[in-house]
Amino acid sequence: MGDLKTQIQDAHRFLAGRWEPPPSVGIILGTGSGQIADSIKADVKIPYPEVPHFPASTAMGHKGQFVCGTLAGASVIAMQGRFHLYEGYDVDLATLPVHVMAALGVSRLFISNAAGGVNPNWCVGDVMLINSHLDFMYRATPALGQCNASGRPQRRTDRYDSELITGALRHARQSGFPLYQGVYASMLGPNYETRAEYRYLKRIGADAVGMSTVPEVAVAASYGLKVMAMSIITNVAKPDMLNETSGEEVVDAAAIAAPRLKSIVENAIGQPDGR
Ligand code: HPA
Repeated sequence: MGDLKTQIQDAHRFLAGRWEPPPSVGIILGTGSGQIADSIKADVKIPYPEVPHFPASTAMGHKGQFVCGTLAGASVIAMQGRFHLYEGYDVDLATLPVHVMAALGVSRLFISNAAGGVNPNWCVGDVMLINSHLDFMYRATPALGQCNASGRPQRRTDRYDSELITGALRHARQSGFPLYQGVYASMLGPNYETRAEYRYLKRIGADAVGMSTVPEVAVAASYGLKVMAMSIITNVAKPDMLNETSGEEVVDAAAIAAPRLKSIVENAIGQPDGR
């Protein structure tokens, strides 16, 4: 397989050979962001197994491919499907696409995921902008300094861009849909949390919990990319309810959140990146 540096170079060379325009924006599409993938005017779609060092077969239930093209006037490379640690991928492999997107020249990275609501104010289908995180993948999160030239620890990895957050909140207000911000706790999974764990996560300040994103953000931060990460709330933890809620309306979180997510990302991409 070669070392990480070789893997990044090989994958970079391959993708740059398949698609010419250097992208300025990277997007990682999690559950519920199919609408964004569909709005990209695609020049080329590249299944992950074709890319050197990417897994030969994906354990993902959904599409695993890069969608390269234009969105909101910008040249974008989007990942339709990601590699989770709970699928058994090591952290370098799970974050290889982020290294490669940075090598291709992206300066902004938009990330979406599906998450459980820990904040009791959230509802299924809400979108939460991540403004910081609690990293419970810390043994697996890329060693700080491993992926930058200096070899020294970074100051912080929660580099969620405050201007992008402010801009998105303003856009949601003007467009008339709810949008929240909060703290994302990352778990290795694959199991969902126990009642006690949800209670604990709430007490230590989490607003949402999921099984992805933080390693991607750590790598993006090491390259100085501007990051905006969004969680679609697919379930709301109610650890102190005596019984599981039954008869509750089955709500399709993705159906509610998808147009909001698309609107947020398109609006943010349309803004100048300030560099
Ligand atoms: N916990 C962890 N990951 C999740 C959840 C959850 O409740 N919901 C969606 N992804």
